[in-house]
Amino acid sequence: MAETTPRTIAPAKGKLGVLCVGLGAVASTFMAGVELARRGKARPIGSLTQLATIRLGKRTENRTPLIRDFVPLAGLGDLVFGAWDPIPDNAYESCLKCGVLDKHEHVEPIREFLQGIVPIPAVFDQYYVKRLSGRNVKPGKSKREWAEALRQDIRQFKQANGCDRMVVVWCASTEIFIQPGATHQTLATFEQAMDANDVSIAPSMLYAWAALMEGVPFANGAPNLTLDFPALEQLALDRRVAIGGKDFKTGQTMLKTVLSPMFKARMLGVAGWYSTNILGNRDGEVLDDPESFKTKEESKLGVLEYILQPKMYPELYGELYHKVRINYYPPRGDNKEGWDNIDIFGWCGYPMQIKVDFLCRDSILAAPLVLDLALFFDLAQRAGFSGVQEWLSFYFKSPQVGPGLYPEHDLFIQHTKLKNTLRYLMGEEQITHLGVEYYEYGKE
Ligand SMILES: NC(=O)c1ccc[n+]([C@@H]2O[C@H](COP(=O)([O-])OP(=O)(O)OC[C@H]3O[C@@H](n4cnc5c(N)ncnc54)[C@H](O)[C@@H]3O)[C@@H](O)[C@H]2O)c1
Repeated sequence: MAETTPRTIAPAKGKLGVLCVGLGAVASTFMAGVELARRGKARPIGSLTQLATIRLGKRTENRTPLIRDFVPLAGLGDLVFGAWDPIPDNAYESCLKCGVLDKHEHVEPIREFLQGIVPIPAVFDQYYVKRLSGRNVKPGKSKREWAEALRQDIRQFKQANGCDRMVVVWCASTEIFIQPGATHQTLATFEQAMDANDVSIAPSMLYAWAALMEGVPFANGAPNLTLDFPALEQLALDRRVAIGGKDFKTGQTMLKTVLSPMFKARMLGVAGWYSTNILGNRDGEVLDDPESFKTKEESKLGVLEYILQPKMYPELYGELYHKVRINYYPPRGDNKEGWDNIDIFGWCGYPMQIKVDFLCRDSILAAPLVLDLALFFDLAQRAGFSGVQEWLSFYFKSPQVGPGLYPEHDLFIQHTKLKNTLRYLMGEEQITHLGVEYYEYGKE
């Protein structure tokens, strides 16, 4: 494909404020990791913005800069962190409680930095997260009042820290399952519902509304509905703000979106896929509530349906039995174990099995995603990309897409989409992997 004209991208000057909703395991591990990387005490492994290269032009050109040298991203030194949380622990206390990072090697050396990140009182309502309670919450009773207070927080943080730009990333607990309804259709119905304290307006939606009203990009790392509906999508367009979600794609679902395209590419059948997880962190405890689990389950189940296309291939995937379980098991803490049993079948219908046992660390996998999302959403905003950022589907289990589109779940298609978008932004040729130009028959 031909080169395009580069987009005009505002420079990444000054500080970028990263406000996380939630200062639990993921957010505190992310902030600590960035600070350790800034001090040269740890490597930002898992982050494309920090480590990945991008091929430009033909394979023979040998042009493969680092992504961060190719597109104008904010540097790690320019990031300033803040958070809201109903639990009053600062980032140091949160790191110690969550127990993800080694206390002596990775927490104590940056103690002062972490203690400086103190959560702003949250907009929190236990109706939406049953297994959690906290006292660091905003006073007031009306959803409008809370949402306006969040706008004020964003402004205040920006001013107090001398930030040039801001990004908000939802790293808070998974809320109960809410389906989009009449109140989510237009901004008018949404705001009326907010004024009426309607139950369909969850706290995460108030954070999203506040960010959009302040012109701040919002990325949703949990499966909550949050801003995945017409009213807030329209608000994002009206306010020219980049948005996206949902649910960080880290462990089991990442594997699923790698293995299932392989089965489909080779036209192998799948009879069943049983996924179970044990984890013992606070996220696991929240997800032990059936209503929060339902939100997560929907996000995890959708993947196979889209990748395998059972309607198109009924004999291979029409009868697929897909089950996902999450079990709260405190001894494991943040070190999740995800088992997958996959029953596949091949030539003449002969059955085979694949077992995957992923002994992972949830927040270690999620932290680099928070970093990349913060930097890429800021880039998108500076490039004038407003509304849903489908090109960042790579990071999400349940990617938000524009109206009338289905999400792309295959990790490698998502990866290509991401890199091609970066090439597009910089006016470089798209890479199609056609490759005939290297051979005589392609030159005819
Ligand atoms: N770690 C992963 O691999 C992964 C992957 C995908 C999604 N997620 C999601 O990311 C989120 C964070 O995960 P975690 O392990 O850090 O969980 P966590 O329980 O350690 O932290 C979540 C924090 O959010 C806070 N919170 C809850 N409601 C809030 C509100 N209304 N406002 C502000 N703060 C609020 C909680 O008090 C808690 O401190 C969860 O929703 C989880 O499902 C994590």
